[in-house]
Amino acid sequence: MDQDPVPYQKIVFVCVNRREPHETCCAHRESEAIAAALKARVKALGFSRAIRVSKSGCQDLCARGPNVMVFPDDRWYHGVTPADVERIIEEVVRGVQRP
Ligand code: FES
Repeated sequence: MDQDPVPYQKIVFVCVNRREPHETCCAHRESEAIAAALKARVKALGFSRAIRVSKSGCQDLCARGPNVMVFPDDRWYHGVTPADVERIIEEVVRGVQRP
């Protein structure tokens, strides 16, 4: 096993867990599109090497999804829609230095 320091200043986890069609999950509420939009905005703003947008499994709050966790900001967004992406990005990039 090797070990390195985490190369990102922030990590954004977007739940993309998909359940059966009749079950509640983030994937049924556009979370894949939200993850893609967050990633695209981070890249467009030049923060790709400082902020990692990563798809996650279930965050155990399915009924309130789509859920997005931001570390180390201690923020957990619920009921996210594609219309919320810009506001989340504004909060995520705050204080981040472009490498
Ligand atoms: S499916 Fe996203 S929190 Fe459970």
